[in-house]
Amino acid sequence: MDNLRIAMIGTRFMGRAHSNAYKDVSTYFDLPQTPIMQVACGLEPEDYLKEFSVRFGWKEYETNWEKVIERDDIDVVDICTSNASHMPIAVAAAKNGKHVICEKPIARNSSEAKTMLEAAQKAGITHMVAHNYRRVPAIALAKQLIDEGKIGTIRHFNAVYYQDWLVDPGFPFVWRHDIKEGGSGAHGDMSAHTLDLALYLCGNVEAVNGAQEVFVKERPSQDGSLKPVTADDATYFIARFQNGALGSFLASRFATGRKNYMRLEVFGSEGSFVFNLERLNELEYFSRNDRDIEQGYRNIMVTENSHPYIHAWWPPGHIIGWEHTFIHEVADFLKAVSRGEDVHPNFNDGLQTQLVLDAVMDSARTEKWIKIKA
Ligand SMILES: NC(=O)c1ccc[n+]([C@@H]2O[C@H](COP(=O)([O-])OP(=O)(O)OC[C@H]3O[C@@H](n4cnc5c(N)ncnc54)[C@H](O)[C@@H]3O)[C@@H](O)[C@H]2O)c1
Repeated sequence: MDNLRIAMIGTRFMGRAHSNAYKDVSTYFDLPQTPIMQVACGLEPEDYLKEFSVRFGWKEYETNWEKVIERDDIDVVDICTSNASHMPIAVAAAKNGKHVICEKPIARNSSEAKTMLEAAQKAGITHMVAHNYRRVPAIALAKQLIDEGKIGTIRHFNAVYYQDWLVDPGFPFVWRHDIKEGGSGAHGDMSAHTLDLALYLCGNVEAVNGAQEVFVKERPSQDGSLKPVTADDATYFIARFQNGALGSFLASRFATGRKNYMRLEVFGSEGSFVFNLERLNELEYFSRNDRDIEQGYRNIMVTENSHPYIHAWWPPGHIIGWEHTFIHEVADFLKAVSRGEDVHPNFNDGLQTQLVLDAVMDSARTEKWIKIKA
């Protein structure tokens, strides 16, 4: 078969980002099979879905995901829905033999994540969690250099992820404020990203100690009534890694002035890295092996042909953007599907992240250090 027929569930923010990726991926990357944008499915009104599918190039649209995952003309299901529906869609898709890529956080809690992993393993499908930030070339380069021992033994992994879209108390109630819908708020949304990067770059977490807060307790719903906010506006935690490193993770939707500010600092015995999502083509690198008189952070422009993913794009210095990370993610996923290979982060990686997220929430509730379950 020359093609992989895609069904995407969820047609808003991530639906747009993933659609853009499927539209472009085979133009820029050599894939064993070409993705066919077969059907997009969402709960939006028909005029929205019609315009959406024409704009992005989906052949059909649908509103019922159960119908979609049963179709014989679908090979891959891409889940871009709100968190409560990740588990049922992924499990049903796996049972129907579809390969699954699912947006992060993998689920609302580790019990759901485990159910998803078991269903995927039983069905023998290719599965992936859509942590696109692993596919930023600068992050992939940091991973390569860490594996080469360039910064030695990692001592600290510090991450901040700041947004400010909830500062206005009049901002309306959405699914992200409801713990039943999201599993958590800023935590599952933003710490899920930084934790996935921590597990990728620094290894597994052993124990955590955290605090969570809801600053605005009620928000106006569509009918004008006030609804209680049950999902955290901000979560801070510290972590001890299995390799002995210490970590800190700050995630807030109340960081006034910060729109989507994710910054990592990784300090090792021989050097360190700093990454700032707002300057995603750059990686700051300090090496103790430089001569004393030359020591200082160097700013690597990660746009060389030899850097991860860049061969598909432009000449050196011609920068890429946020949307390219989704194209890289989809390229890696589709290659793995075609070759019948594993790809990371898979549902087991998603489960490991979710176990840490759950432990932080336990810690915030009990005000104690919590060890991560095996
Ligand atoms: N990777 C990233 O950087 C990133 C960024 C934002 C969101 N996300 C994740 O992506 C997912 C979606 O977030 P979003 O911002 O696109 O949300 P959104 O609210 O903009 O869109 C959710 C979509 O899911 C659809 N949907 C919900 N339940 C459904 C159901 N039962 N059947 C069919 N469609 C259903 C809605 O119709 C809508 O199209 C979340 O899990 C979120 O955490 C990831």
